Amino acid sequence: MRLRILADPDAVAAAAADAFAAALTTSEGPTFVAALAGGRTPRAAYAHLAARPELPWARARLVLGDERALPDGHPDRNRSMVEATLVRPLGLSPGQVLWLEPGEATLEAAAARAQAGLLEVAGDPPRLELALLGMGADGHTASLFPGQPPARGWVAATEAPPDTAARRRITLTTSTLRRARALLVLVTGADKAAALAATLAGPGPLPLQSILHDRAGEALILVDEAAASALPPDRVSEGRSDD
Ligand code: 6PG
Repeated sequence: MRLRILADPDAVAAAAADAFAAALTTSEGPTFVAALAGGRTPRAAYAHLAARPELPWARARLVLGDERALPDGHPDRNRSMVEATLVRPLGLSPGQVLWLEPGEATLEAAAARAQAGLLEVAGDPPRLELALLGMGADGHTASLFPGQPPARGWVAATEAPPDTAARRRITLTTSTLRRARALLVLVTGADKAAALAATLAGPGPLPLQSILHDRAGEALILVDEAAASALPPDRVSEGRSDD
């Protein structure tokens, strides 16, 4: 696992776009399957990537990492953000993106349908080339929340804590994310400093601890100084070094 501490969110976004572009460009095989985070943090990174149409996007097969159970087109849907910042500007075709659509009789049925789509694009068991993740101030990632029982399968229906808007979710599970060849985790803002310090302290119950702990593949954690403000000095010097 490699930690990089950068000056601010813009620097994190630019570094994230570079890391994603490098993975897309250097990956072998006919397609490059990547999971994308929702929320606010990755927007600027997606905008950087949308300004690089020269990358081999025809090989990309994007999977949304999680989705809120909201109506089509709702501004709080992760699909709305990813479509606006990345998919539409690049003109990616509908067959290149797997959305996690909540519109089934039950959310469990929607998760099962999304799982079938994931296995089609990423194989069974699913193998992502890259999973781009964010982290909430409570330590959640995708829609895997601390204190929840482990989500089963490769895609699951979950529920966010009571004080969260859009509680019902569909999410890639820890099992799926742990299997990714590479992880790219973006964390910015002082409100996430405590959860980041807990996550990087070692194995533990937080979702990213379970995903990061003891996994074979690469993991690049890109954070800004504000999010790094609760890290121990040795971690900070490691993260600031440019080697
Ligand atoms: C979601 C996201 C979620 C996100 C974190 C951080 O649906 O909310 O996928 O996992 O990565 O909540 O969100 P911000 O980037 O907005 O802080």
